[in-house]
Amino acid sequence: MAKVLVADSDPQSQESLHDVLVRSGHIVEATTTGEAAIRAVDDGDIDLLICDADLPDLPGIELLAAVRRSHPTTAVILTTAFGSVDDAVHAMREGAADLLRKPFSADQARLAIDRALERSLLVRENQNLRQALDDRVQIGNLIGEDPRMQAIFKTVRAVADTRTTVLVTGESGTGKTVVARGLHALSPRRNGPFVEVNCGALPETLLESELFGHVRGSFTGAIKDKPGKFEAAHGGTIFLDEIGTSTPAFQVRLLRVLQDRVLERVGDNRTIALDVRIVLATNLDLEQAVRDGRFREDLYYRINVVSIEMPPLRQRQEDIPALAMHFLRRFAKDHGKRVERLTPAATAVLRRARWPGNVRQLENVLERAVVFSQSPVIDVADLPPNLVEQDALPAAANAATPPVALEPVQPLRTALDAAERRILEQALVHCDGNRERAAKVLGINRSTLFAKLRRYGVR
Ligand SMILES: Nc1ncnc2c1ncn2[C@@H]1O[C@H](COP(=O)(O)OP(=O)(O)OP(=O)(O)O)[C@@H](O)[C@H]1O
Ligand SMILES: [Mg+2]
Repeated sequence: MAKVLVADSDPQSQESLHDVLVRSGHIVEATTTGEAAIRAVDDGDIDLLICDADLPDLPGIELLAAVRRSHPTTAVILTTAFGSVDDAVHAMREGAADLLRKPFSADQARLAIDRALERSLLVRENQNLRQALDDRVQIGNLIGEDPRMQAIFKTVRAVADTRTTVLVTGESGTGKTVVARGLHALSPRRNGPFVEVNCGALPETLLESELFGHVRGSFTGAIKDKPGKFEAAHGGTIFLDEIGTSTPAFQVRLLRVLQDRVLERVGDNRTIALDVRIVLATNLDLEQAVRDGRFREDLYYRINVVSIEMPPLRQRQEDIPALAMHFLRRFAKDHGKRVERLTPAATAVLRRARWPGNVRQLENVLERAVVFSQSPVIDVADLPPNLVEQDALPAAANAATPPVALEPVQPLRTALDAAERRILEQALVHCDGNRERAAKVLGINRSTLFAKLRRYGVR
């Protein structure tokens, strides 16, 4: 079904074309002048214009030329009572799909209409295709116009259909997990399993049996043979999150899987072959961990084949308004609330905030704002006070966090670690030792907080 406009001042031609078109199931609009035709084409998406060469206000050939210029996807058929070969050539040169000589039979008209619509459909498809290619790279509903995000999306697309190991690094909440999922979803393994293991959340022995499986009697409580997550991910992707804090013994086992694509269950010496794509993530600086002797160098090189570094949100401020709107719409829908937009002032606060918890923190802030909002518009007052306060501080005061600056010069990592440790301790005090709440306040997930506390020996 197409939308067809007939521009003809002769009632008889109008009627016969109308009949043919309606019988073929098309929607028909009619005008008697060229000017009205131009307006109608501008207004609605007309697929086909059938115009008479002899319109009262302007020659049909001019209407044809004008429409072809302004709406190249609208096909045009010219009808004429005194057509010469010259007219026909001229019409075709101006981009007419066909020339129909009056009087025409219903069959002739139908044939010309079908052909013209078919062609315009092809043109349209072609245009859509080209547009799809031109469009910025996009993965699922991930937002990211920032050049670094665009580069990441390109990398994800490029390596998705290989089995290459991918390491995703970046601060907590920057989107490491969604990228891992994207790699799986775009890969030929997409119908296979996607298995996610948080390596930071389990004690070493449990983690080993969880990942590699075990045989009956290999330890107290191992009452039967159990396959591990690696085996469960066979034919799919395994995502090993928070790899940075793993123990030496675990690193050795992992190295073997990465090198030889085989594993042995705990307590077993039979070798099992694996077909899995391995994606790893960490929010720690692995290179530093290697230098400190906390992470095996050979494992690091095995892992670091393709690495994707997620930039912190504060370094891609341009994406913040779009992300905020994305979350606003989602939560408005989830919670059945009519919240439609943010005020420019609220958007400005979001853009300037520090976002230590990155996209996840922004997501939480918007959920809270939507849930508590009493109006369709979110304003500064709906945002958490600490975001706003932070915003109110002059930039210089924001940058110079006093205690760190006053200490004697030391390696950056050490200084940052000390500062991070203090921030974690403060958050815990602030939340009366409640780790769940502290994680929320810090905008990091619980297991990340646990791993950090463990690393700093905070209890
Ligand atoms: N570019 C993005 N567009 C839309 N949503 C995003 C984007 N990046 C992250 N998110 C959303 O933000 C939240 C946090 O992302 P994700 O869980 O992937 O972060 P992470 O880096 O894995 O964090 P962690 O280190 O704490 O595991 C998720 O809800 C995710 O869907
Ligand atoms: Mg994650």
